[in-house]
Amino acid sequence: MKRIQRIGILTGGGDAPGLNAVIRGVVKSAINAHGWEVFGYYDAFRGLVNGTGKWLHWDDVSGILTQGGTILGTTNRDNPFDYVDDHRYPDKRRDASADVVRNYKKLKLDALVAVGGDGTLHCGYQMSKLGLRIVGVPKTIDNDVRGTEMTFGFNTAMTTATEAADKLHTTAFSHHRVMLLEVMGRTAGWLALGTGIAGGGDVILIPEIPYRLAAICAAIRERARRGKHFSIIVVSEGAKPLGGDVVIRQTVAGSPEAIRLGGISAVLAQQIEEATGIETRYTILGHLQRGGTPSPFDRFLATQFAMSAVELLAHGKFNRMVCVQKGRISSVPLSVPGKAPRTVEPDSHPIRMARSIGIYFGDE
Ligand code: F6P
Repeated sequence: MKRIQRIGILTGGGDAPGLNAVIRGVVKSAINAHGWEVFGYYDAFRGLVNGTGKWLHWDDVSGILTQGGTILGTTNRDNPFDYVDDHRYPDKRRDASADVVRNYKKLKLDALVAVGGDGTLHCGYQMSKLGLRIVGVPKTIDNDVRGTEMTFGFNTAMTTATEAADKLHTTAFSHHRVMLLEVMGRTAGWLALGTGIAGGGDVILIPEIPYRLAAICAAIRERARRGKHFSIIVVSEGAKPLGGDVVIRQTVAGSPEAIRLGGISAVLAQQIEEATGIETRYTILGHLQRGGTPSPFDRFLATQFAMSAVELLAHGKFNRMVCVQKGRISSVPLSVPGKAPRTVEPDSHPIRMARSIGIYFGDE
């Protein structure tokens, strides 16, 4: 097999703290341990379709470990197989995968590192079928990539959301209010669950456990009977009532996943206040959760993922995704993450643990 000399890297999907740590780790280890050259594509697969990016040198990645976002740029609305050249005309779509292959070959790349969530990783898998040699690195604050117990970005987002929950306690306690904190996570409740447990939430609402308004209000009244005249509710943006539906914030035409969730906390706040008579407020944390410097944990995980991705390439192991399995860094076939998001099992240990300390899930 021809020795690797040149690789590409791209970051795709919503930004997450730790992306720059991966870019840095890949570039440094590729240059330092193997003498390879690394080309960074701009704005995920858009850069590969258009052939835009730059060669990354040691100096380009020096000092970026602590920076949030991605120096390469990203997008979560471009799919090379159903591509929109100009987002003012979202209906003008085409299959741009041939452009991707052409640009990859033009630079004589031997492999590509695709850093992203399930959408980016699935695109990478489809590209591997067209002959590109890919290694995936799982990223997302949602922690919902199938095949890995953990993604980088999640720990930082959970820290940010937990700090918000801590702060909301002040007003909740002083005003005897119900305070809702809405966090991201799409169809997976990991971020709400983690934030609720770490942030002392009284009720946690996640997509995997549909709630009943009456059960939430009963929990609030039960707390009042015990002398706790305030409640913190951590609600996932994808939470929905039993037999009901999610609240959609907006649809993004042309995006592989067009629906953006958000706003359930506003709906619930009004319903809870009406039903209990207790003053209720909501906070939607939004993109604050994706920003800021990565936590030491995420820097460590992202750097480990980066080194492992380069190691896989060096060993000729292509079309795999680096991952955490049983707490150790490993890898799985690149076909795994695209299957469906990894969601919270309603009867799993963290849920049972939370219930055992009196946290409600709005279902009983
Ligand atoms: O997947 C990451 C994520 O932040 C989700 O938690 C959220 O639903 C979505 O992206 C928001 O996307 P956008 O940045 O397009 O609003």
